Order: sequence, then C-alpha cells, then structure tokens
Amino acid sequence: MTKTNTERKPEPCTLVIFGATGDLTKRKLIPALYDLYSEQMLPNNVAIMGVTRGDMDDNGFRRRMKKANEEFGSRKIIGKEWDAFEARLHCCAIDYDKRDSFENLKKTLESIEGKSELSGSRLFYLSVPPSAYLPIVKKLGEVGLNTPRSDDTWTRIIIEKPIGDDLESARELNDKVGDVFTEDQVYRIDHFLGKETVQNLLAFRFANGIFEPIWNRHYIDHVQITAGETVGVEGRGGYYERSGALRDMIQNHLLQVFAHTAMEAPARFDADTFRDEKVKVFDSVKPISHEEVDNVAVRAQYTRGKMNGKDVPGYKEEKGVDKNSVTETYAALTLHINNWRWAGVPFYLRTGKRLPKRVSEVILVFKQIPHQIFQVDGGPGGMNIDANILAIRLQPDEGISLRFGAKVPGQGMKIKPVTMKFDYESTFNTKLADAYERLLLDAMLGDAALFSRHDGVEASWRILMPVLETWQNEKIKPLPAYEAGSWGPKEAEEMLHRDGCWWRECL
Ligand code: BG6
Repeated sequence: MTKTNTERKPEPCTLVIFGATGDLTKRKLIPALYDLYSEQMLPNNVAIMGVTRGDMDDNGFRRRMKKANEEFGSRKIIGKEWDAFEARLHCCAIDYDKRDSFENLKKTLESIEGKSELSGSRLFYLSVPPSAYLPIVKKLGEVGLNTPRSDDTWTRIIIEKPIGDDLESARELNDKVGDVFTEDQVYRIDHFLGKETVQNLLAFRFANGIFEPIWNRHYIDHVQITAGETVGVEGRGGYYERSGALRDMIQNHLLQVFAHTAMEAPARFDADTFRDEKVKVFDSVKPISHEEVDNVAVRAQYTRGKMNGKDVPGYKEEKGVDKNSVTETYAALTLHINNWRWAGVPFYLRTGKRLPKRVSEVILVFKQIPHQIFQVDGGPGGMNIDANILAIRLQPDEGISLRFGAKVPGQGMKIKPVTMKFDYESTFNTKLADAYERLLLDAMLGDAALFSRHDGVEASWRILMPVLETWQNEKIKPLPAYEAGSWGPKEAEEMLHRDGCWWRECL
C-alpha cells in the first residue's frame, strides 16, 4: 500500500531539533522525517540539525538515528535512500544556559546553510522537558535566532505539550515565548490533531449536508469521547507523577477532539478562522464550580491486574512512582456547553491507562424515538429499541459506524440493532500517515490550522482549573481504584448512571 502523495511541498529549510537524543526524536520525529523524505515530501533541499547537551558529532548522531529508525520506524531502511537522508543530518552539542553555545549554534547553522545552499528559513523544534523551553527560547532571542535571516526567509518554532501545568503557568509560558517570537511564528503541537481521522471528523461534519442539521440538542442525547490505552506509564513514571491523566490527555488531546465535535462551521479553513471557532467552544463550556467537581469528574488509579492473560503491576509499583502516589491514571469528566446548539447535551470524556483496549473514539448517542410500535429483539436498550449511535473511530481501525434498528427476517416485526460501517484504510487502500508527518510538514508550509493558539491553550486550562484545584486540595483522599485490564472505576459508571446513560462499547 502506498501513501497518498500530495502536492504540498515546502520550500527549502533547516529543521533544528532541540533534544536530539530524546525519546520523541527517536520514536517519532526521525521516523516521520525519513518517511517524508522517502515519499519525496520533504523540501528538495533540507538540513536537519539535532541539538543535544551530550557530546555528539554528526556521525554519532547519524548512527543513533539509523538505529532509532530501525527500531521505531514504519519504513524499512533502504541502503542508498538512508545514505542520502543521513547526509542531511547534523549535530551540534550545546549548553542551554550559555550564550556562547547559542552563538556557536548560529555559526554552525550558517555554515551548513552556506554549504548546502539553503536560504536560511528555519524551523526550531523544542523536543525537550518543559523546564528547558524558556532558557532555550530566551537564548535564541539573545543571539538573534528568533528573527528571519532575510525578507524572503522565515523562522518558526514548534513547542511540544505540556504548555504549562495549569492556567497560570501556561499564560506565563505563552507570554514569555511571546516576548521573543510573534504568535504567528509559534506552533504548539498536539499530535492528536495530526491524526487523519481527527481531521476526518471535520470533513464528516463540514463536507456533507446530511449530518449538520441533526448535529445538535434537538437530535443528540449526549456525546462520549474516549481515549483508552492499554499501556501503563512505560518508564515515564517521573513525568507522569507530576502530570496525571487530566493534564496528560484531557487538557490537550481530548479537549481538542471535543472542540472538533462541538464547534460551529468556520467560514474558511484558514488557521485563524478555524481556531477562533474552537476557542468559542471552549469559552462556551459551562464553568464547573468547585462544589460540583465530585459529581462531574472522576479520577482513579490502576492496581495490579491482568492484561491479555499476563500479570501487570499496579501504578504504585511502576518505576519512578511514589508508593503513596495520588496521581490519577484514569480521568472522566462531564462537560456542558452553554450555547444554542448544545444546551442540555452532556459531553462525557474519559481516558485511562491499562484499559482493556487501545481505542480513541467519539460516540454520538441520538435521542430515543418518541413512541415505540415494534417488538425488540435483545439489544442493550432492554425492552426499548436502543438509540441510534454514530461512532467515529479515531484509532485503531479508523472509520465511522452508524447503528440503527433493522427488522429481523421472518414473521412479525422484531427489531434488532445493526451496524453500517465505513473503514478508512480499506476504502482508500492507503496507509495512514503518522500524525507527526502531517504536522511537521504543515509547520514547514506555514499552515498553523492544526496547531493550538495561545488563547485556545489558556481556554482549555480554564475549563479544568476547578477540577485540578479541587483534586489538589483533596490529595489526602484515597483515590478510587480500578484493576489493570478493566474499563475503569465504578465511580465513572455511576457518573453516567446518574444521568440515565452508560458508557458505550466501541462498535
Ligand atoms: C501523549 C501522552 O501525549 O499521548 C501519552 O503523553 C499517551 O501518555 C499518548 O500515551 C497517546 O498518544 P497515541 O497517539 O499513542 O494515542
């Protein structure tokens, strides 16, 4: 299967990755870049500079990246092709706190650009721990690497999540980055937005006439957004302890999917018009009061259990995790939107580690029929014909299914729920590109639509602050537990039962 090649080819540029030996670079960035290179989607002329605090030269970096691609890349290394790609990789050792180091980086960049006949457009990528963001940004500014080299070149910077760990720190980070780079130079990456199916959610809504008229409170009973993971914290205990599921997944990925599901149609698909609509949704979310947090939010932690028949340790037994940790590995949340489209329609969001299935999806549960005239044949709705369900599967098995009632063949009029399915990969007979491929290319092209703007990031933190504050103040409370391999705590079930709903199984 081949990937769909597009006409989108960026102009020549240099990509500068801070954190060149880190996890993200080897697991995601280099494999994505090699894939793009092999598909001839990178600029005709490109240099990739890895910046690291360690002691490493070009050859050491190339060897390491080859190994990384063999381990994590989806594309097999082909001798000549890799050699040509590798020739574009360079490395520069740096001390993030020293201005001299950055002067040296500047000179090295100019020299490589000179030799490679590159004009000097640059894309910086901060693939480093958040504590290093500001020191790097500040120094880039001090040595003048924040501004384009000339009128016909550009300079941009990609910043990874987390953007802050609460509203205040997100604001502070945005402000300080804003002192050095203009907003249109800043690309805050959320890799969920690079997923083909998250974008397809927009196509489904805004490229079809039949769904929008029913995409509202008159027809939709409630919406469920799930991002289930089978993995635990995968050796990232230190990071995860400070983060937890609400910050790690809901503040960014799930709220972005929520915004795509709930937003109004933008007038155009340009970065600002599109992002304006998303911010409007965040701003319309009914504020959660501290008093109601226990009713609308659930947190829990996994204990020892079985995954695929194998024993797995509980969260507190993971490396880097405090034995008395109260960090949540599962979070569920009910949100309401105060606008004409959605008033009264709950949006339930949930995510967790060590759940039985790796699955991300959006489920729209439609309202029940007003009057039933047929007999029901089984079905989760008991004696009632179950509501119609539209499920948009973001990963894996990307696709869309619609469940409706059909007549069971034979005498009488018995109704049974059946499913109509669209499968992304088999329909288009194409391998879906990795999210980082799409986003790296968009940043090189200067298309910021799928990146978060500062006000969007702050608005999403604002939604969650009462929950974070309440949880922070109740740290001594033992957290609800769920066994690894189960769908989460009973408290999350109860949250929906109180509204007469239940978590839906993926179709
Ligand atoms: C990351 C989180 O942003 O997203 C991880 O930090 C999580 O904890 C990951 O596992 C999930 O992304 P994906 O693409 O594997 O679903």
